Parts: sequence; C-alpha cells; structure tokens
Amino acid sequence: MGMRGKLVAGNWKMHGNLVENKALLDALSARLSVLEGASCAVCVPYPYLFQVQSALQGGKIAWGAQNLSQHEKGAFTGEVSASMLLDFGCKYAIVGHSERRALFGDDDATVAAKFVAAQKAGLTPILCVGETLEEREGNITEQVVARQLDAVMSVVGVDGLKNSVLAYEPVWAIGTGKTASPEQAQAVHAFIRARVAVASADVANGLVIQYGGSVKASNAAHLFSMPDIDGGLIGGAALSADEFVAICLASQAA
Ligand code: 13P
Repeated sequence: MGMRGKLVAGNWKMHGNLVENKALLDALSARLSVLEGASCAVCVPYPYLFQVQSALQGGKIAWGAQNLSQHEKGAFTGEVSASMLLDFGCKYAIVGHSERRALFGDDDATVAAKFVAAQKAGLTPILCVGETLEEREGNITEQVVARQLDAVMSVVGVDGLKNSVLAYEPVWAIGTGKTASPEQAQAVHAFIRARVAVASADVANGLVIQYGGSVKASNAAHLFSMPDIDGGLIGGAALSADEFVAICLASQAA
C-alpha cells in the first residue's frame, strides 16, 4: 500500500457573508494551527476568495472554489476561469458536485472538461461522484459511479488522476442527516480504488478518496478509520468552527 494522506475539505456551498466568514476563518486559523500530517481546506463562493486568501495565506489551511469554467478565457459571461482561481491562491476546485450535475446541467462531458481545465492551470480538481437514492435502490450504484469516473479517466488517462482528489458523495446522504454507514461508504471507495487499480495500482494506492454526505464531528472518526476513506468533503458541518475543527482533528488522528 502506498502512502497517502488524509484531506478534509469544507464545501461552504452558497452560504456566508463577509462578517460570518471572518469569524469562521479566524477560528479555523487559530484552532487548526496544530495540524500535522493531515490536510484541510475550505471551498468557498467566488466573491469571497480574496477574503479567504487574505485570512489564510501562510497558514495550514488551503482553499479553493466549488466550480470553474471549462473554458480558458473569452466571451463567457458570468463564468470564472481556472487562472482566475489561481490568482486568488486556490489550490482546489470541486468539479462534478451532484448539485451542479442535477441543477446546472454539468453532464459527464462537461465535468471532464472542467477537470482538465483545472489541472491544466495547476489546480487540483476534487471530482465528485455518487448515486441517487433511486439508483442505490435499483442496485446500480457501482454502474453509476463507474460511469462518472470513466468519463474523466477516458479523457485524462489514469495518470491524469495523480494530481486530483476523488469524493464519493451519495446524493441521498447530502444534507439529509443520513450518513452512509462506514461499511457502505468503504464498499464504494474500495470499488473506486479497484477500478483505478485496473489501469494503475500505483495511482490507485496514492489516490485520496474523500467521503461526503452528512459528515459530522460525531461520525467522522469512524468513517475516517476505514481503509479506503481518506478524509471528507464537508457541507453543513463546515459552517461551524467547532464541527469543522473536530472533523479535521479526527482525520489527523485516523
Ligand atoms: P453535507 O455535509 O451538508 O451533507 O453536504 C455534503 C456535500 O455535498 C459536500 O460537498
């Protein structure tokens, strides 16, 4: 087994304002200065990237965006490019979040193009995959996750997964308070890793696969103790300093 670290990233979604962000960022900077051997990041709305960069620069917490354009530049009104994210110190960009797939038309091909745009600029894409409740109940979880993964792998090749992070986020567990059990999540994580390993065992062993979906301080340690769960992508709980700090510290202990 190769060495891979744990990564906990907060996905603030469309929450926050200058005042609340400042309180949260100050608390995170102060309380996560003790981090060693685990990595933490926050993925924030575009308008707050400058605030986050100013607050976190030089510290232990990285930051990123929740989306980006697949285009490099040009007449794309309302879009934000990878190089703009780099200007504000981003390390990560989430691509293919289920909310974007379901609500904003990000299909597999678009997600792959965004993944490529992020990597080309030097960002680390966090690629989200995951099934809906209907798909789980129809026993096609593996099929769906494989399709979402293959859509990217077929474009970038297995080596293209080296500078990336995967996040398994079962749609039915997002914002519902219904966490996948550690065993349920582990099974899908192992499936994803095995699928990558068919192409390259080395890339598979080094791949950070986060779990996302109702992760909280109270369930993080158990999830992170599973062999193929390498941290988490945290929604609601990332808006609370107490919760997010506890989750980051749990990843460090795991
Ligand atoms: P919750 O943690 O609020 O369930 O959201 C998970 C998520 O979608 C992270 O990207």
